[in-house]
Amino acid sequence: MSAKPSNLQIDSGRLWGAIHDTAKFGATAKGGVRRLTLGAEDKQVRDWFRNACEAAGLEVHVDALGSMFGLRKGRDMSKPPLGIGSHLDTQPTGGKYDGILGTLAALEVVRTLNDAGIETETPLCIINWTNEEGSRFAPAMMASATYAGDYTTDDIWSRKDAAGITVKEALDGIGYRGEEPVGQRKLGAFLELHIEQGPLLEAEGKTVGVVDRGQGIIWYDGRVTGFESHAGTTPMPLRRDALSALSELTLTIEKIALAHAPNAVATIGEVNIANPSRNVIPGEIAFTLDVRSPDAAVMDALDRDIRATLGEIAKRRRVEIALDQIWRKPPTIFDSKLVDAVQAAATELGYSYRRITSGAGHDACNVASVIPAAMIFVPCKDGISHNELEDATQADCSAGANVLLHAVLAVAGVAK
Ligand code: HGY
Ligand code: MN
Ligand code: MN
Repeated sequence: MSAKPSNLQIDSGRLWGAIHDTAKFGATAKGGVRRLTLGAEDKQVRDWFRNACEAAGLEVHVDALGSMFGLRKGRDMSKPPLGIGSHLDTQPTGGKYDGILGTLAALEVVRTLNDAGIETETPLCIINWTNEEGSRFAPAMMASATYAGDYTTDDIWSRKDAAGITVKEALDGIGYRGEEPVGQRKLGAFLELHIEQGPLLEAEGKTVGVVDRGQGIIWYDGRVTGFESHAGTTPMPLRRDALSALSELTLTIEKIALAHAPNAVATIGEVNIANPSRNVIPGEIAFTLDVRSPDAAVMDALDRDIRATLGEIAKRRRVEIALDQIWRKPPTIFDSKLVDAVQAAATELGYSYRRITSGAGHDACNVASVIPAAMIFVPCKDGISHNELEDATQADCSAGANVLLHAVLAVAGVAK
């Protein structure tokens, strides 16, 4: 094997151009990106990504859940490829960098190696994982979770969006349901670059986050059943108001998360009143609950405390409150050797860095349960993400891509 070229850098302008070129697919008036998974805009960016991979000499494969794999040959094709990438789908009010930075930085690493005429010892595989966000179809990170064996493809194919469209129908609708069974494409390891989506790196003036762990996540579907009745004639003490009950539950859940701070967060992100009308007391409400902690014991405590409190509220307010757990992802511990390779790359490149826990879930968190994985963070402005204001600097994005490049060279090795 040859020595790793320590002065090699990615093409910052090319990466920045790719980020802003692809931001037009689903661009919103406020400067964000709305690119829900498996929709028309997702197809546009997938087609762009496929063309860019093929132009970079990669063999593009698509699996049964639409995840895209761009294979770059290495000297020793008997070795499983090193995977690098992230996701191209966004939240409804998403930004230009969440997921996109990691996927396009992986492409930029390949383009840089091509320009430098470098062949790696181990093959590389750049990846766009389907539906990381989980906004249109639950759960989040569903394709990488299926790759890791947490779900069957049939189960995920049958998941429906709010309009009743299944994942399978949506995949066929954009022509991205591949023949390759999910999980068949073996990887030796996986590295993901992502914006931090939180405030720590920027607040501490650090350029790189060396991610060594990720929070655990529990998702619930909830339902409050009270009694619809006339807003004018029903005396307050006789009401079984589903919205008042949910409002009290929401504030109590906030108190429970604060009681476990800083190792707990809880969010009710969706609330849907059935048959809403301004002069009818809400009788039926569906809601979602997202609970996270880096500590599995705290996750259990949150679940226990929330269920206890909802029982008390339901009894006192004479409503029913159902809370179904639909997804549980334990906390992630990333592979220490890979984490060290990321840290060594940041050190060699002279970037300031700190170890950091990921508050957000990522495809790397799922993949980490079956192969060695690690992540690289860079700051985003004011820590804002899942918001159209999401922003990052070209310098930080390029720094992250350079750390990815040098971690790849260290892990995959340089053949020539
Ligand atoms: O929910 C998450 O943490 C990820 O951003 N989808
Ligand atoms: Mn993401
Ligand atoms: Mn996200």
